[in-house]
Amino acid sequence: MLIRNCWYVAGWSHQFEAGKPTQRMLLGEPVVIWRTQEGAVVAMEDRCVHRLAPLSLGRVEGNAIRCLYHGLLFDADGRCREIPGQDAIPASACVRTYPAVERNNWIWVWMGDPDRADPSRIAPSKALDDPAWVLKTGELHYRAHYSLINDNLLDLTHLAYVHAASFGADEAWSRNRPRVEPIAEGVRSSRWIVGTPPTPPLGKAAEHERVDIWTSYDFVLPGVFLLYSALFPTGSAEAFGYEAPPAQAPSLFANFTSQAVTPTSESTTSYYFSWGPAAEHGDEAMAQAMIDVAIMAFNEDKTMIEAQQRIIDTDPGRRVMPTSADKAITLFTRLMQSQDG
Ligand code: FES
Ligand SMILES: [Fe+2]
Repeated sequence: MLIRNCWYVAGWSHQFEAGKPTQRMLLGEPVVIWRTQEGAVVAMEDRCVHRLAPLSLGRVEGNAIRCLYHGLLFDADGRCREIPGQDAIPASACVRTYPAVERNNWIWVWMGDPDRADPSRIAPSKALDDPAWVLKTGELHYRAHYSLINDNLLDLTHLAYVHAASFGADEAWSRNRPRVEPIAEGVRSSRWIVGTPPTPPLGKAAEHERVDIWTSYDFVLPGVFLLYSALFPTGSAEAFGYEAPPAQAPSLFANFTSQAVTPTSESTTSYYFSWGPAAEHGDEAMAQAMIDVAIMAFNEDKTMIEAQQRIIDTDPGRRVMPTSADKAITLFTRLMQSQDG
């Protein structure tokens, strides 16, 4: 099932250039995204009302887009303004539009009821020019239902097994359970991993044999993963009462990642992400090294999840057997499904 009443990431801002209408599949529907003269993004059904040709093969003319099959011209609100060789324009000559917002280098499209599109509900991902972070980007495209990718991000016990070669995660990731709590638009999962050997990149942790690692992420509608992780000297977790470290507590190293899961159809999903160190701990070269490892790790996820999807497809009715690590998945799935209620 695909959920309509959500803001979905359609891609990176730079992928939608002025004068270049671009097609994206969102929830199985062709959407054309283009920019007005002022640079505002417009999202429309990528289907001309005349003979159903894609408008993404059309031409932007000022604040309108012309279908380059037989030349019908549509305003940014979807209304047809011109039919070459015909004076009367029928009221039905209107292409569906979708609310679209450009924020923090992502283009967000609302696929549901336009009256419910509230931009204040867009997930607070980090902008690429946020001075506190040095961020690099990437994307992957899956042959899998989006919920399998959401489930993967909601249960990081897989780190010790799927990502042993990339992130080098300790088995503590699967033995300890994070604290999972509902938040306004999703689920928060946080935990300390105490007295563990640090894995690169290290920042100031290079001089420490063992560290305490604080990891906290919000997984918010419709599949946006916002993770902060920081290394502290051993003893810090206890000193902070195993709660979140105070904002002013100096860390040895810190990093942030924003990731977005977008169903492109019932069986395919796009995945956009940025990652990098805090500006005080790392530079462009470190950010590049981190995104390279992340891309390796996300391909490990992709191999597992696509293989999982192929097994599921052989017997789609087969039920899963939840474990105690699935609490966040259960909470989030319920929240997601309530959006179209
Ligand atoms: S299909 Fe678009 S103008 Fe004919
Ligand atoms: Fe993973």
